Amino acid sequence: MKFFRKGVEKKPQPKPESAAKPHPELKVISGAQISGKQPQPQQQPQQQPQQQNITLPNVRFKIAVASGKGGVGKSTVATNLAISLANAGAAVGLMDADAYGPSIPTMMGIQERPQTSPQRKLVPLVRHDIKLMSIGFMVPEEQAMIWRGPMLHSAIRQFLSDVDWGELDYLIIDLPPGTGDVALSLTQAIPLTGAIIVTTPQDVALADVRRGVAMFERLGVPILGIIENMSYFLCPHCNEKTEVFRADGGKTMSQRFSVALLGQIPLDAEVCTAGDLGVPIVAAHPDSPQSAAFGTVATKLEAVLEESGEEEELTIL
Ligand SMILES: Nc1ncnc2c1ncn2[C@@H]1O[C@H](COP(=O)(O)OP(=O)(O)O)[C@@H](O)[C@H]1O
Ligand SMILES: [Mg+2]
Repeated sequence: MKFFRKGVEKKPQPKPESAAKPHPELKVISGAQISGKQPQPQQQPQQQPQQQNITLPNVRFKIAVASGKGGVGKSTVATNLAISLANAGAAVGLMDADAYGPSIPTMMGIQERPQTSPQRKLVPLVRHDIKLMSIGFMVPEEQAMIWRGPMLHSAIRQFLSDVDWGELDYLIIDLPPGTGDVALSLTQAIPLTGAIIVTTPQDVALADVRRGVAMFERLGVPILGIIENMSYFLCPHCNEKTEVFRADGGKTMSQRFSVALLGQIPLDAEVCTAGDLGVPIVAAHPDSPQSAAFGTVATKLEAVLEESGEEEELTIL
């Protein structure tokens, strides 16, 4: 693939460390703030987030994975897409921007504390050839996360500018569900190449797709495509396809908004189990039909990006 850099350089894995305390380098997320204690006056975050762009010049494509609602499989898609892109030869990073329910550590099967480089940058963890960063690495798992808007904004900025992402073809950013603060903070912080919307085929989910598309359009972020997850059940015995939910809802949406349908992912117990076990299906069973579906998404995404003139600048669809 001509725009790929060589694979992610394998850094020595940091030794597991107790996650009993928040990571000292995560400036915004001090224990006091997270546990909901009142911050000291001098710690008050700014009320107005700064509009200062972070460019990440060594990261070619910055792609947000979003959904109108939770539970549609956004994190599952983000992790498997990241691995599929890496399998195709790309250097890939995955940033878990879901501060409320970070699931990347579980799905990628890694729960360690990132080390700090001599330049005082956070060194991403590497798993399945993907550079990873998640709030889940920084704070104890059981700690309730209480976020105020400005804190969230600062955390997102820090994950972009204070992490040693190095040279990447793709930085995939797993957003929390909905059209909230994080998407806004992200678009204020960096120029995104575009967003991918994940949905399930039913009407209730599709209404949220409209909101998601409308939000990114208002923020000036191109929609790269829609991924329909849990599209159909593939019988492991006879390979018969059953449309558990309404058929082709994502396809209809992609036509309505004139955006690419990047793929339809089957509903499959293995996809869920693999995520729970920390080895995403694309890594656990690379030859399965489910992994092939993710591979198709990666190929179509590359095509969409290439069609767009190989440059980061795309027109809003
Ligand atoms: N295609 C699929 N087949 C079976 N289970 C899936 C599929 N996609 C996601 N899941 C499961 O659904 C649940 C929610 O997925 P998740 O990726 O956490 O959603 P989100 O990030 O949108 O909240 C997880 O338990 C996940 O394993
Ligand atoms: Mg998620």
